[in-house]
Amino acid sequence: MKTLIKGGTVITTENEFVADVLIEDEKIAAVGKDLSADGVDKVIDAAGKYVMPGGVDQHVHYSFVYKGSKVRGFETTDACALGGTTTVIEFVNQVKGKGLIESLEDYKKTDAEGISMIDYAFHPVMVDPRPEVIDEIPSLAEAGYPTMKLFMAYKGQFFHADDDAIIAALVKGKETGVTVMVHAENADMIDYLTKKLIAEGKTGAYYHAVSRPPIVEAEATSRAIMLAEMADAPIYIVHVTCKEALQAIKDAQQKGLPVCGETCAHYLLFDESVLALPNEEGAKYVCSPALRTPEHQPVLWEAIEKGWLNAISSDHCGFDWAVQKHLGMGEGCSFADIPNGAPSVQNRMNAIWTYGVCEGKISRQKFVEVMCTNPAKNNGLVNKGIIAAGYDADIVVFDPDYRGVMGVESCREGVDYSIYEGMEQKGRPETVLLRGKVIVEDAKYIGAKGDGKFVPGKPYGKAYDNVAK
Ligand code: URP
Ligand code: ZN
Ligand code: ZN
Repeated sequence: MKTLIKGGTVITTENEFVADVLIEDEKIAAVGKDLSADGVDKVIDAAGKYVMPGGVDQHVHYSFVYKGSKVRGFETTDACALGGTTTVIEFVNQVKGKGLIESLEDYKKTDAEGISMIDYAFHPVMVDPRPEVIDEIPSLAEAGYPTMKLFMAYKGQFFHADDDAIIAALVKGKETGVTVMVHAENADMIDYLTKKLIAEGKTGAYYHAVSRPPIVEAEATSRAIMLAEMADAPIYIVHVTCKEALQAIKDAQQKGLPVCGETCAHYLLFDESVLALPNEEGAKYVCSPALRTPEHQPVLWEAIEKGWLNAISSDHCGFDWAVQKHLGMGEGCSFADIPNGAPSVQNRMNAIWTYGVCEGKISRQKFVEVMCTNPAKNNGLVNKGIIAAGYDADIVVFDPDYRGVMGVESCREGVDYSIYEGMEQKGRPETVLLRGKVIVEDAKYIGAKGDGKFVPGKPYGKAYDNVAK
C-alpha cells in the first residue's frame, strides 16, 4: 500500500518546508518536492495544512488505581488518535510478588493487546523492591522497557518508594541504559500538611494544593538529583510544575549532570484557582503535583523554550467526576480522598498548539520537538517522532484554520468531563495516520480496536546523551 501526502508544510524540530511525503506500507519512504504519484493507492491533499509527526505522549495512566478507583483504560485510546497522538507510554505498576517484566507482560496481554487503537510502550513502576526485583532491572533494557518509574510521593500507598529503592534502581538501571524516572514530591511533608489541614477542618478540593506546596516538590526534586549524582546515573523528573523544582534541575544541568524533565499541559495552562471552583468542580483539577499559582507558568514556558525541560506530556488519568472525583466530598471525607489525576490526552496537542504556538510562546519547531520527537527519544522509540525516510508513518495532517471549542462533547476519553471545557481551540488534526493506516479522516476516528501495537524501546534514551556508556 502506497500513500502520498501532497503539498503540505512539513514541520521538523529544525525548520519547515513544503514537501510531499510518500508512505510505503508502515514506513515513510521519501520526503521531497513533487514526488511521483505513480503506483500510489491514496493521495491526501495537504495544501495549506501542516504535516507533523504523530504525537508521542510519554506520560499516561490507563491502569492507575487510587484508593480503589481505577481509571479508564486502553479502550479509550481513540481519544489519542483524534488529538493527534499516535503513541502513548503507560505506567504499569509491578504486582506485589511478581517481577517487573512478568507484571508488564500480564498487563499487556489482558489490557492493551488487541484493544489499543494507537501504538504503546510501557514504563514499569517498581513497587516491591525485593533483591530479586532489583536484580531484574538490567534486563528491562533487553525486554524493550528502557525506562522505569518510582513514586517518591503517596505515603502509605503500595506504590510509594523510599530512597533506598531509588538508589538501587539508579545503580542497576545504569548498567544497561535504563532511564529512571521519579514522581518527585516529599511524601512525609504532604502527610504532615494533609493531617494538619484536615484537623483544622480545611477539607475542600482547594486544600489539595495547600497540602503539597512547591517546597514539597523542590525538596524531592533536589533529593532525587542528589541520589542520581551519588549513583552516577541519569535521572528523569516527571511532571515538573514549579520554579523551585526547576531551579534544582537547572543547577544540576549547569553542573553537567544528566538530569532531564518534562512538564504537562495543565501546569502550563491552568493555575490553582480552578481548585476553588464552586459546586465541587474544583475536584476535577485535583492532580499531583498540584496546580500552582500563576507566576510559575511563564517560568515553565521558558524552561520548554530553553530546553531545561524537554517534553510536554498529558499525565492523562481518566477518572470520572460524577462518582470518582466526588469521593472527597461526603461527610468525613476530604481532598485527600479525591483520586489524583485528570483526563487530558485528547487535547494535549490542541491545547498546546492553541495556547503555546498560536500565542507565540513556542515555535512550531519546538512544538514538534517537545510533543513528538523528544518523547520518542527519551524512551528509545527510535522509529517514532520524526518525519523522515525510514521512520514509522505516524503522521498528523493538521488544519491550522479550524476554529472550535474544546470540551467533553467532542472527547472520547470515556469520562464525563474535560479540564478544557469551553476553551477555544485553534487548529486540529484533520487526518492521522498510524504506521501508514489512516485512523482519523476529516477529524473523525475511522480506525479499529487493536490497530495499535506494542513498540519496544531501545536502551540509552535521551537522558544518556552525554553519559559515557
Ligand atoms: O495526579 C496524578 N498525576 N495522578 C497520576 C499519578 C501520578 O502521580 O503521576
Ligand atoms: Zn506522578
Ligand atoms: Zn502521572
